[in-house]
Amino acid sequence: MSENQAYNLAFKAVGRDVTIWPMAKIVRPEVIAIGDSVIIDDFVFMAGGRSTVIGSFVHIAMHTTIAGGGDLTMEDFSGLSGGVRVYTGNEDYNGGSLTNPTVPPPYRKPERSFVRIGKHVIVGANSVILPGVTIGDGAAIGANCLVTKDCEPWTVYFGSPARPLRSRPADQIHRLEKQLRGELYDSEGSYIPQSIRNENGQSQ
Ligand SMILES: CC(C)(COP(=O)(O)OP(=O)(O)OC[C@H]1O[C@@H](n2cnc3c(N)ncnc32)[C@H](O)[C@@H]1OP(=O)(O)O)[C@@H](O)C(=O)NCCC(=O)NCCS
Repeated sequence: MSENQAYNLAFKAVGRDVTIWPMAKIVRPEVIAIGDSVIIDDFVFMAGGRSTVIGSFVHIAMHTTIAGGGDLTMEDFSGLSGGVRVYTGNEDYNGGSLTNPTVPPPYRKPERSFVRIGKHVIVGANSVILPGVTIGDGAAIGANCLVTKDCEPWTVYFGSPARPLRSRPADQIHRLEKQLRGELYDSEGSYIPQSIRNENGQSQ
């Protein structure tokens, strides 16, 4: 795909079968590391901040924003639905300094933080994830959630602020991951790209 930006930008690292659609805006690709089999849709705005690490089999859907200047980790098989906002840093909302990027230091004191999104996490449309939050492996965050605190693993969350709704069973997801890894990784643990799988007649 000629408009794919994945192999035209100077990323810190980028794996195979990565698609970054042409209308996605990526700021500071040099601090962003991306695994294998990743899709970043059109109209995503992703600022690399201090560091951004995106695992494999990750999808970031249209109109999602990643900003704040801190550290973001998205682990394997995680995804952000359309319109999600992830902030890895914050302005001072409590009156200690001036706010917003037009103001130079020392008048402005933005706080750089982090967001960690665990394996198999899915975040529903238009949710907002605030700085300093870890979303545990396998958590599912519903649409329109405001995530202000850590989320427990393998739990479905809903509402604003996000609160637990029920547990999310892990067994089937772990079984499917194991099966997929058996098919799509070689004996040394390296990802087998689609082009090679197709040559070998394996299903896509
Ligand atoms: C959170 C979610 C996973 C729960 O799904 P579910 O288990 O089928 O939940 P239910 O539909 O049985 O709803 C349970 C209750 O929570 C409420 N609820 C469900 N999702 C909610 C949400 N996102 N925000 C606020 N309330 C919600 C329902 O209204 C219902 O309330 P009630 O008991 O008073 O009637 C789902 O509603 C959701 O938000 N999914 C995200 C969808 C999405 O964003 N998809 C994008 C493409 S992947």
